[in-house]
Amino acid sequence: MKTILSLSPAAQMETECLVAVVLDKAEKDKTEAYVSSGDKSVQKSAADLISAGDITGKTFEVAWLHKPDGLKAKRLLLIGGGKTKKFSASDLRKLAGAAVRALKPRTLRSLAFVLPGEIPAEEAVKAVVEGAIVGNFDPDTYKSDRKDQNVESLTVVATNNDDRTKLQRALDEALILAESQNLTRELVNEPSNRMTPTILAERAEQMSKETGLKCEVYGADKIKELKMGAFWGVAQGSDEPPALIVMRYEPAGAPEKPVLGLVGKGVTFDTGGISIKPADNMEKMKYDMAGGATMIGAMRAISLLKPKIKVIGIVCATENMPSGKAQKPGDIQTAMSGKTIEIINTDAEGRLVLADGLCYARQLGCTHLIDAATLTGAVVVALGYANAGIFSSDDAMYQRFAAALDKAGEKMWRLPLDDEYKDQIKSSIADIMNTGGRWGGAITAAMFLKEFAEDTPWIHLDIAGTAWMEDNKPWIAKGPSGIAVRSLVQFAREFGS
Ligand code: BES
Ligand code: MN
Ligand code: ZN
Repeated sequence: MKTILSLSPAAQMETECLVAVVLDKAEKDKTEAYVSSGDKSVQKSAADLISAGDITGKTFEVAWLHKPDGLKAKRLLLIGGGKTKKFSASDLRKLAGAAVRALKPRTLRSLAFVLPGEIPAEEAVKAVVEGAIVGNFDPDTYKSDRKDQNVESLTVVATNNDDRTKLQRALDEALILAESQNLTRELVNEPSNRMTPTILAERAEQMSKETGLKCEVYGADKIKELKMGAFWGVAQGSDEPPALIVMRYEPAGAPEKPVLGLVGKGVTFDTGGISIKPADNMEKMKYDMAGGATMIGAMRAISLLKPKIKVIGIVCATENMPSGKAQKPGDIQTAMSGKTIEIINTDAEGRLVLADGLCYARQLGCTHLIDAATLTGAVVVALGYANAGIFSSDDAMYQRFAAALDKAGEKMWRLPLDDEYKDQIKSSIADIMNTGGRWGGAITAAMFLKEFAEDTPWIHLDIAGTAWMEDNKPWIAKGPSGIAVRSLVQFAREFGS
């Protein structure tokens, strides 16, 4: 989507659709709706719709007006943003997405979004651009009667009191972030026959070439040479070759330390292996590479936004298949770190590939680690679809990440990593086992990973419930969400400043 910044009066916008936010400034049950913009002409055009109660400011409520008096726009779209007191940049991001998604089926191709006065202009520009680009994405690639309904151009309408340079920078950055998030979504959306580990690696290489990252891709030989017994244990059962993808961002002038390691689970299809999953919903396991795709999207944005910090992205890509060569329950694998793992359930494969990914990141010199993975069904039981699970061995690092989440408008809820849980993954025959029983499954999975992050400050994101939207929302299509990309990039930028 082409994005343009304009500081001209909203009334002068020649556009198919001018969008303005309506808020409600009354307390509790009362309503007192108004257009959230200082622009008198927009206020005037909207006055009748508001006084008639056609729009009251309720969140995502919409009202359309054709040939609005006093405006050059062909239409005015008013969209409700809720109570003024509660209105945040995160709400605005969703409204921009909802506006774009309202335009798409109407075959409208351009809009101009009037920034609401309630949010500081830079933040508002960022929210509108991110929301609009994320909202523009639809996952219906393989429908042969697919109509391209994408909105082609967005004008962000600020006021002439605003600082053009700062707003243009905010717009450019938001564009990079949102397009990177959409890259992640595009990769996650592909089915496993069109997104094998090899293809995922090619996509990472292509992205790296485009943005100037170093990218190396290793196959089975290197995985075995590195003694990644846990990763290989999963990969050995598949005819599709695995890929160990390493993307390096090493900007000139960055300090030697810290080095941030971003490690993603790239299981391009998870059948469960010999501990095979039931047929119901198994098709969804094509999104089990979402953690890996998240890191590819994040590395793209980091490479383009250029924070002064070294970042290494690692994706452990493989299928998890049953076969005559597949690992079996009871098998013991020796991980790269030397720890031995008793495989209780071959469906707990994500922690195995990440164990070696984390160890490798440490070997490459990472001083701080973040992994992202669709790791457990248990995190969905615990937190549902609204929050991802976040775990950390380091409070200071967690605090920094929590601040990044807030800025990015993403939601994650911290779960514990107390030593008491360690007993659940003790094995009688090896150092550790790969499942921890029925209770606290998201936590015992994280405890397993902690054994491989060792004393390196580390954050684990379990995105099993959040990487895939189960339903269409007003602001985002059903399907891959691209969760965590924006927060990871925000974290890296703050960490490097
Ligand atoms: N990829 C799954 C987790 C998952 C579940 C992702 C639902 C997305 C939606 C993971 O590899 C898995 O199978 N986990 C098992 C672990 C169990 C065997 C200990 C699970 O959660 O059931
Ligand atoms: Mn599994
Ligand atoms: Zn899995």
